[in-house]
Amino acid sequence: MQIDTAKLVYFSPTGTTQKVVRAIARGLNPGSIEEIDITKPAARVRPLQTSEDDLLIIGVPVYVGRVPAIVLPWLKAIRAQNTPAVCVVLYGNRTYEDTLLELRNLVTQCGCRAVAGAAFLGEHSFSDAGTPIAAGRPDAGDLRRAEEFGQKIREQLRSVSPGSPVPEAAIPGQYPYRGDSRLWTEDFIEVSDACTQCGSCAGQCPVGAIDAEDSKKIDAKLCVSCCACIRYCPEHARSIKPGRVKDAQLRLHTLYPDRKEPECFF
Ligand SMILES: Cc1cc2nc3c(=O)[nH]c(=O)nc-3n(C[C@H](O)[C@H](O)[C@H](O)COP(=O)(O)O)c2cc1C
Repeated sequence: MQIDTAKLVYFSPTGTTQKVVRAIARGLNPGSIEEIDITKPAARVRPLQTSEDDLLIIGVPVYVGRVPAIVLPWLKAIRAQNTPAVCVVLYGNRTYEDTLLELRNLVTQCGCRAVAGAAFLGEHSFSDAGTPIAAGRPDAGDLRRAEEFGQKIREQLRSVSPGSPVPEAAIPGQYPYRGDSRLWTEDFIEVSDACTQCGSCAGQCPVGAIDAEDSKKIDAKLCVSCCACIRYCPEHARSIKPGRVKDAQLRLHTLYPDRKEPECFF
């Protein structure tokens, strides 16, 4: 089976999912690549349609052991026709629980055929210099693994004769899913005097929770705690203030210091 176009779909507020999805596509080396970055609200308006000649590489971060609830309506609206799909989750060194299975089930219900899946490691959204959690992941070794994974998918697809179904991947996980798709409603971001009101945080926010005119104004009900505004602040003016998220950051740093490795499934 020949793949002409790979469609890369990712929700990636702090960029780790995007890096891994792109590395998989490099290894796969299809005829052409189309990127559909659904991180920003405006990109989650137009639904995706794919055919069986495309290959979908779809990646999301793990949020409390689940697919982030914010992307569920867009994912459920995908219209596919037997499109082979590679499901990818990025997690911050704790666990991905049933997220990969949930993503696989979501795309399968939309008409995709999940031919491979993978769980990769990404620096935890709550990680910072003083309290690192999977800092620097995905690193060069992870990206090499992602490229090799892409090459294997290519070989597998090539071994399938035209007209035959591509075997579905055995994805681990259980249903009912164990994680919790409800997030905390927490006002946890501290903004220092270094803030110049440049508006970059509001531009980066995947849910439009930050006031573009006053970046100290954050709608905690919309915020998904992704920490993109902290990660991308050019003045390093934003940080996690004492409270539930800070406690979680410290707990994750203490409990999950050991390096975990990516897992790939066919
Ligand atoms: C609200 C929230 C919940 C998270 N839950 C988990 C989790 O259950 N397990 C885990 O290992 N990492 C968890 N993470 C970390 C992210 O999955 C990880 O940092 C991922 O690489 C972020 O992807 P991105 O860089 O594409 O945004 C969580 C992050 C956030 C913001």
